Amino acid sequence: MLPQIDRARILDIGCGAGIPTLELARLSQGDVIGIDIDQPALDEFNRKIRKAGLSDRIRAVNCSIFDMDFPDESFDIVWSEGSIYAIGFERGLREWKRFLKPGGFMVIHDEQGNVRRKLKQISSCGYELLGHFILSKETWLAEYFAPLERWIAGSETRDTDDPKILEELHQARLELDMFKKYPERNSSVCFVMRKN
Ligand SMILES: C[S@@+](CC[C@H](N)C(=O)[O-])C[C@H]1O[C@@H](n2cnc3c(N)ncnc32)[C@H](O)[C@@H]1O
Repeated sequence: MLPQIDRARILDIGCGAGIPTLELARLSQGDVIGIDIDQPALDEFNRKIRKAGLSDRIRAVNCSIFDMDFPDESFDIVWSEGSIYAIGFERGLREWKRFLKPGGFMVIHDEQGNVRRKLKQISSCGYELLGHFILSKETWLAEYFAPLERWIAGSETRDTDDPKILEELHQARLELDMFKKYPERNSSVCFVMRKN
């Protein structure tokens, strides 16, 4: 839904360990800043940036959603996957708008629920909706939880006492258990919009 933008400047809010951020940099050939407050995730992200040879185009910054101080109209795209809940959908739309150049794009991947209300808020906050789509629980299973389960199974056959891996395994098992218990909760929605 997004056009090709020459050397796009992209802000990824709540980038975590940078899985979408790296992909954004590769797809856009632009410059990407990712912000998050989770320093261990940012450390991992920085390792991946170096490994991918993308240090000249991606920057990972420890900064809270509530402290962002970028100049007005400095980004072509504002991207947020799984983080707008921290500030609230409508407030995020309002507060992040100033970072976008006129006609810039915002992409929000959010939990499912209140979609009709969110569509109204997109319009009342001064955006044009380009489209939205649901990521169903089946998609989450195929693209995320099944690989996660395979990763857990593979890790369990490896004899490790590395506390970091053990903690990651523990968290992954908890996440998988929650999915199996409440699969219905695991669908999400992605909104693509343009600043009016
Ligand atoms: C579900 S994760 C998504 C990470 C990444 N966007 C992805 O899709 O892989 C949500 C991220 O939002 C970050 N986050 C939560 N509250 C935040 C805040 N106040 N400021 C910045 N980041 C925050 C978390 O640390 C976490 O990395």
